[in-house]
Amino acid sequence: MLPRYLLLCLIFLIPASASYTNDGFTYDGFSSGMLRFDGVASISSRALMLTDGVAQSVGRAFFGGRFDSISSFSTTFVFVISPPYSDLGGHGLAFTVSATTDSLLGASPSQYMGIFNPENNGNVTNQLFAVELDTIQNPEFRDINSNHVGIDVNTLVSINSHPAGYYTPDGNFTDLLLISGKPMQVWVDYDDSSHQVNVSLAPYLEQKPQRPLLSNTINLTSVLPRSVYVGFASATSTVRSIHRIIGWSFNPNGEAKPLNYSVLSEIIQDVRRDAQSRSHVPKGVLIPVIIVSVFITTVVIVAIYVYMKKARQSGDWEIDCGSASFTYKDLAAATNSFSDKMLLGKGGFGKVYKGLLQTSKQNVAIKRVSPESKQGMKEFIAEITILGHLHHRNLVQLLGYCRNKSELLLVYDYMPNGSLDRVLHGRDKQTVGWVHRFNIIKGIAAGLCYLHEDWEKVVIHRDIKASNVLLDNEMNGRLGDFGLARLHNHGTDAHTTHLAGTWGYIAPELSRLGRATKATDVFAFGVFMLEVVCGRRPIQVNDSDGEPVLLTDWVVDAWESGSILNTVDPKLEDYLSEEAELVLKLGLLCSHSAQSARPCMRLVMQYLSKDVLLPDYQPSFLSLTSRDEEFGQHILSCPSVAATMTGLSGGR
Ligand SMILES: *[C@@H]1O[C@H](CO)[C@@H](O)[C@H](O)[C@H]1NC(C)=O
Ligand SMILES: *[C@@H]1O[C@H](CO)[C@@H](O)[C@H](O)[C@H]1NC(C)=O
Repeated sequence: MLPRYLLLCLIFLIPASASYTNDGFTYDGFSSGMLRFDGVASISSRALMLTDGVAQSVGRAFFGGRFDSISSFSTTFVFVISPPYSDLGGHGLAFTVSATTDSLLGASPSQYMGIFNPENNGNVTNQLFAVELDTIQNPEFRDINSNHVGIDVNTLVSINSHPAGYYTPDGNFTDLLLISGKPMQVWVDYDDSSHQVNVSLAPYLEQKPQRPLLSNTINLTSVLPRSVYVGFASATSTVRSIHRIIGWSFNPNGEAKPLNYSVLSEIIQDVRRDAQSRSHVPKGVLIPVIIVSVFITTVVIVAIYVYMKKARQSGDWEIDCGSASFTYKDLAAATNSFSDKMLLGKGGFGKVYKGLLQTSKQNVAIKRVSPESKQGMKEFIAEITILGHLHHRNLVQLLGYCRNKSELLLVYDYMPNGSLDRVLHGRDKQTVGWVHRFNIIKGIAAGLCYLHEDWEKVVIHRDIKASNVLLDNEMNGRLGDFGLARLHNHGTDAHTTHLAGTWGYIAPELSRLGRATKATDVFAFGVFMLEVVCGRRPIQVNDSDGEPVLLTDWVVDAWESGSILNTVDPKLEDYLSEEAELVLKLGLLCSHSAQSARPCMRLVMQYLSKDVLLPDYQPSFLSLTSRDEEFGQHILSCPSVAATMTGLSGGR
């Protein structure tokens, strides 16, 4: 196989197994002819492998040539989706017709199917038509069957969708399970004069159904430009299937040529063999092994059930956090029996110790949760369930946990440089320079963006502040302490029963309504950015009159009465004024009292990386409320960024 980097950037100009004429092309199996790959997509055993069973990945493949005029097009393809479990696989694949291949760059895995990302999903500018084969329950659109075929135009909210299956010649509907691991065929036909799109699905080697599964009228002339690319996109989440296309035929102006089933059948055989060899089980022992495993699984499930029931009754918890368990003995040995000498600090919920694991010689931080508080216990259980499944270089990694009676011990990566709070406000003369501070801000923005947008569930952090930012050995910032975080699904609000957070970082609507959202996290992050640049706490007592002053007000005052740069930490000698100004103005924008003015974290990252210019707003904008008329013209909130940006001058 070719190295991936070659596959990524090369368009092979000589067709191998493909025949390419003005009437389109036909792939009876794939070699690299005229294909363009992106993400994890590759060719394996003559099949086009869009995703290879790796979690959170995106794979795409396009036909390398652009079609300069498509009218009544037609396509058909044979695919196999091999899920990791017989009843669970994610996320699916889609046939796409798009204006560019670039528009799909930056597409997200999971429910965005490798076609869109949270920002562009729904934009008319996407100029994209897709037929999706969705195999997992999408948390955003709960009412939609998880095993469905849908027609998408510029958004993943399908124009029309139907549970997977087909109409037999006698008119009956027969269900099909997309993740059955069996090959199936799809047909997509568009008629340019009637604007009718038909989509059909059938088991491999069955006739094309007479009655299509989906039939819609869509004027694709108004959706797509004249020149388009055709291809496939696929994505996995933590649930990871292998998505393969076995054969594909496309005609831009007429009926797609039939596929050569005898060749395809050979490839399907190879794919099956490949799947079997992956499991390394010789055929002869397969059946006894299955029987024994079913028996063992049943016993284990019953045992777990009984145990859980008992555990619940006794008010105890068992946690699935995807992390290793440690024994109490391991952790006691690592910390000198929790000696005070190993104490790193005391948090809201208990003490944190430094430990050295005896077996791996790894330094860890061990958080010992105070057993006296029931609420604390609950919140820490939230923390482990979430943290154990999250992996990002700007999050403090939870390595595992240990339960000792009613006490919980959480084992984290040790952060040798302590918390940012200490560095910023400690008595040490030494401080972190501008390059590191800017880097920490960008890192925490990336970590928070991951929590808000990239993971399959939205995680609201709820307690962003300098003391929750820890520094690793390279002085990268990492977000820790998810004790207050709670899971909630994309698109639904998190209703909380009590107010959590730290004074100075709490958004006005949070204290009023008591509801934490992404926007309240962004508010706290804005205050945090100011804190890092100014080296001042969010609330500081005024030297002259002893009155408390909010950091945000203090920065706005300085800006209005001269220069915003007067607020930069005097300990910072080498800062870049352009960057400091950017962070200060962005910090103020994020902590705008009106939540609709705050940008989303992905946009914050783009501002920080200077990929998008921060709009040149005036300090007066910060005192506008969402009821003011001028306000509407300035709203920068996501996802309408692209539209509102053009009306604003981009300078800083
Ligand atoms: C769509 O299906 C209907 C019903 O079978 C058929 O009459 C129509 O011609 C089809 N349209 C296209 C574009 O294939
Ligand atoms: C389809 O869209 C094109 C471009 O927007 C437009 O010119 C044409 O009139 C539309 N056709 C119909 C039938 O609406």
